[in-house]
Amino acid sequence: MTSGAAARPARDSMGQAQSRRWQEVMGGLAGILPDGTVQVLVDGGRDAEVFAEQLADRLRADGRHCVRPEDRLWTGHHPTGAVLLAAGTDSHAHAPAGGWDVVIRLRTHRGAHGEDEDGADVVVDLHDASWPVIRHVTPRLAGRGDWFVTETRAFFSPRAATWDAKFGDDMPAYAAAVDEAAIAVGARVVDVGCGTGRALPALRRAVGPAGRVIGVDLTPQMLHAARDADRARDAVLMLADARRLPFADARFDAVFAAGLVPHMVDPAAGLAELARITRRGGRLVIFHPSGRAALAARHGRTLRPDEPLARSRLGPLLAGAGWHLDRYDDPPHRFLALATRC
Ligand SMILES: C[S@@+](CC[C@H](N)C(=O)[O-])C[C@H]1O[C@@H](n2cnc3c(N)ncnc32)[C@H](O)[C@@H]1O
Repeated sequence: MTSGAAARPARDSMGQAQSRRWQEVMGGLAGILPDGTVQVLVDGGRDAEVFAEQLADRLRADGRHCVRPEDRLWTGHHPTGAVLLAAGTDSHAHAPAGGWDVVIRLRTHRGAHGEDEDGADVVVDLHDASWPVIRHVTPRLAGRGDWFVTETRAFFSPRAATWDAKFGDDMPAYAAAVDEAAIAVGARVVDVGCGTGRALPALRRAVGPAGRVIGVDLTPQMLHAARDADRARDAVLMLADARRLPFADARFDAVFAAGLVPHMVDPAAGLAELARITRRGGRLVIFHPSGRAALAARHGRTLRPDEPLARSRLGPLLAGAGWHLDRYDDPPHRFLALATRC
């Protein structure tokens, strides 16, 4: 009796957190959908119908007219500005005139992403139905609404406490990358998307006590984990968004970015923002403690040539953002690209 009563609040608050998560996802999706009449397909097998119903409820609660097809057929007249919302993989056959404007694909089990998500405008990871997360939004819609901050945090916050236990063995690889970047003693460096701060001790060693090291991240739990790991000894930790960094132009000699670029919704704009805060001749270090192919294999997906870190894509992206790519290295054990601010 006592233990049951004691357990209840924890269960309730867990339930509340999950229900808030669903509300955030539905709110995020409602914000992403274009204005005007829009034809939307939720594509994802058995879960699609329930998901579409929840989205319809949210759209209606937000004051948007939402129409669901009856018996898979669109009937009657739909007012201008309505969201026509269908569900199910086979609904393609019943697409309304003009086809779908937005396809929302549900990822329902681990490893089920890659080519089967080609053509999806939005991908929602639903492999844990109690914790859905929007994982991809097509560039055409990515700037709409405020989904990015909530979804980034929803993805990384549950991982923060165990991040170092899971990936702590990689610390020497971070130190090696910092060495290779030849960051000068006394330099001002920022680690953008610093997470738990795995690069911060090496960055501090490189710049010495006279240098300045700042770690920036969007997920508060990541910064808490960094503090718990004593990384605030090596750096000032700041909660901020890489898309709009709270620093003056040309403030830094070097920017370190590990695991950040693949999470940028607009890599061209993101790399330009990193360029803005870096002085001419300053350095950008893009790093990951495993190569792209090894990481993709670990996540059960195939490498795509249009990914921002693909060799053929990164050079032009950097050039357009004010950087010159000096070095590109992608063996299985790490990814390292070094660039200089033009
Ligand atoms: C893959 S983790 C890498 C963390 C750390 N750099 C490491 O190597 O262990 C990516 C980190 O980037 C952060 N992040 C993603 N988008 C961001 C943004 N727009 N601004 C700041 N941080 C961001 C996430 O919160 C997460 O901590």
